Amino acid sequence: MALRKIVCIEDDLLRKKSRPVEKFDDKLHKLLDDMAETMYQANGVGLAAPQVAVLRQIVVMDCGDGLIEMINPEIVSTEGEQDGPEGCLSVPGRRGMVKRPMKVKARFQDRNGEWYEIEAEELLARCIMHETDHLKGQLYVDIMSREIFDDDEEEAEETEEAAEDGKA
Ligand code: NI
Repeated sequence: MALRKIVCIEDDLLRKKSRPVEKFDDKLHKLLDDMAETMYQANGVGLAAPQVAVLRQIVVMDCGDGLIEMINPEIVSTEGEQDGPEGCLSVPGRRGMVKRPMKVKARFQDRNGEWYEIEAEELLARCIMHETDHLKGQLYVDIMSREIFDDDEEEAEETEEAAEDGKA
């Protein structure tokens, strides 16, 4: 495994659409391993392939319940709403308030090409939306209702809670 360089918000790559994965081969497995290592090393909860300069529909996530790899993920349905703080490994030092669905149903392939469906809530639902947005070339800063600043007393408690595990 090897760490990959995380590209930052100034990079046009983050604005491009990712293409579907067609080959479930060793090269994909190596990329997935590298992405997980890179995410954990950066203390993130999610990482999408464009963030390591690969324009393919691949994301890795760990919201506290173990590593999830999603290849060619699709949002099947969403339900409800949550409003909360969000950050991104490609947007260092910033956070913002983003409205997301409370529940998300998604389908995706695993590293061997097998299809699965997942029903997620709360942080994992937020993370799936954030990461699949990356595959469309969208960043949370495009859709946040407002930036969160460190001296924002109102959000301080909430942000502190999410600070450790909110970067995706
Ligand atoms: Ni992100």
